[in-house]
Amino acid sequence: MSDAAWSEPVRGVGMVWARSTDGVIGADGGMPWHVPEDLAHFRQVTGSATVVMGRRTWDALPPRFRPLPGRRNVVLTRDPSWAAEGAVPVHDLATALDTDEPVWVIGGGQVYAAALPFADRVSETVIDVQVDGDTVAPTLDDGWQRVDDGDWHQSRNGGVRYRFVEWSRRS
Ligand SMILES: NC(=O)c1ccc[n+]([C@@H]2O[C@H](COP(=O)([O-])OP(=O)(O)OC[C@H]3O[C@@H](n4cnc5c(N)ncnc54)[C@H](OP(=O)(O)O)[C@@H]3O)[C@@H](O)[C@H]2O)c1
Repeated sequence: MSDAAWSEPVRGVGMVWARSTDGVIGADGGMPWHVPEDLAHFRQVTGSATVVMGRRTWDALPPRFRPLPGRRNVVLTRDPSWAAEGAVPVHDLATALDTDEPVWVIGGGQVYAAALPFADRVSETVIDVQVDGDTVAPTLDDGWQRVDDGDWHQSRNGGVRYRFVEWSRRS
């Protein structure tokens, strides 16, 4: 399946993440690699959809990249006083996901875990590295099927290998 086909606007909740071969998605509040091709893929997948993220992931975005342009940036926080320019604060997951528009959950670990039961697709970048980290992607069980394994590519940034894997919830 091509990226273009996958990023067709649809209703429903998708999740998009990049993980190491052993499931790490974050370390010390950031991402433990820099793969520019993955960032481009992320932009393509999320398109002009609503993106839902945890407050810590918002904090992890470099200030010049937030809000993520062209997308409604919903930030989950339990702090009723939290505010940031360009962010739509929301205080519970159900409200964050309650829209007829396409929604992509973009992290981090807490929010992926909480949103997993409501998601019907996952767009996963597998980065062929083993790194120490403190945040991991959820495990996708038998209720999920790989619909595209992707091919391995080499990043222009240091040659690390990556591939785009697509998952769909079994109906
Ligand atoms: N590799 C990737 O694709 C990827 C993608 C995104 C993020 N990351 C990484 O993941 C790490 C951050 O993940 P994280 O698990 O520490 O934090 P997170 O999921 O980004 O954010 C957690 C925060 O979200 C709020 N929250 C979570 N669940 C909520 C709920 N049900 N209702 C209301 N608010 C809720 C809380 O904010 P308050 O504390 O304000 O109440 C909580 O502290 C970073 O290292 C980041 O770089 C990696």
